[in-house]
Amino acid sequence: VDVDPSAYEYGATGAEPRMYTEMLEQPASVERTLRGRLDERFGTAHLGGLRMDARELRAVQRVKILGCGSAYYAGQMGAQLIEELARVPADAEAASEFRYRDAVIDPDTLYVAVSQSGETADTLLAVEEIRRKGGRAVGLVNVVGSAIARACDGGIYLHAGPETAVASTKAVTTMFVGFALLALQLGRVRDLSVADGKRLVAGLQQLPGQIEKVLADEDRLARVAATLSQAQSMFFVGRVRGYPVAREGAQKLKEISYRHAEAYQMSELKHGPLALISPEVPTVAIVPDDELTDRNVAALHEIAARGGPLVVVTHEDVDLGELSAERIDVPRNEKELDPLLLTIPLQLVAYHAAMNLGHDIDRPRNLAKSVTVE
Ligand code: AGP
Repeated sequence: VDVDPSAYEYGATGAEPRMYTEMLEQPASVERTLRGRLDERFGTAHLGGLRMDARELRAVQRVKILGCGSAYYAGQMGAQLIEELARVPADAEAASEFRYRDAVIDPDTLYVAVSQSGETADTLLAVEEIRRKGGRAVGLVNVVGSAIARACDGGIYLHAGPETAVASTKAVTTMFVGFALLALQLGRVRDLSVADGKRLVAGLQQLPGQIEKVLADEDRLARVAATLSQAQSMFFVGRVRGYPVAREGAQKLKEISYRHAEAYQMSELKHGPLALISPEVPTVAIVPDDELTDRNVAALHEIAARGGPLVVVTHEDVDLGELSAERIDVPRNEKELDPLLLTIPLQLVAYHAAMNLGHDIDRPRNLAKSVTVE
């Protein structure tokens, strides 16, 4: 399917959708999240806003991340980073579920509320409940002075700059960077070696330039999007680090293209959804070059054997063998930081799919930028 160039005229003015400019701002927004927070000498991060000293950070037994929608998926990426780097058990939960299930609030758990707007009602109410019961909550928030930022014991501002498009892009990637900084600081007062700390600091510093490279692949991503936009329904799959990336990719596509996209763990496909794979149902697979690549490639063969079209977001070195797939290569970084660079092509794919279908990108139907009602 060819991309219709007239679809790129936006509105009466021909101005770019805000989502588009916000995607392109990501190298600069990530740079701002990092600014003044990295310590190259000791391979760590400094997050004064957390208002926690080394003794308090060492006393954290568990990390629980709470957010909604894309912030929740960024939280899932963050929980994996924290477990990997700080070796503290960590998980993410939808704040909208947490607040309804009468959760046990544990004084040794660090609760992290993640939100672009800082006004999402479900996340705010979760924070208030945690604090009422004696838990410590810190925020990973973009809007300075917002309700969630004020309700927390301390926090990390994202400094992504104003995000106004309903489909969140630069907030998601700066949330990931915020979690990486938190994981580094938490890790370096516990068991993370100085060598590993320095390795991650260097990796983080490379991100803005690498994001530029992913964004520069836009024409190719637009072509992939044009093909995908013809399908009524598709899967996004990934394993471990790739799974929250798949969830975020499916979310972005649903929000603005109104196509059905379902995210699945790669390992769960054979337990049910494989039944739906057919030439009409494409799969977007997240396959970074890591300890799970072989297993992921084996699962892709299962999809291909059933005639399912494949788009594979991967790294250059990954050998897909005989597999017939559209591949999208992103630059290599430290494997713990892979989710960020794997997420960005999916934003562009969602954007171009929606443009191709002629949708109003910044005003998707039924959605508001922040959900401040219960
Ligand atoms: C993202 O594209 C969505 N519009 C939505 O899921 C959003 O991330 C969610 O509502 C949370 O918003 P917040 O980050 O402002 O709390």
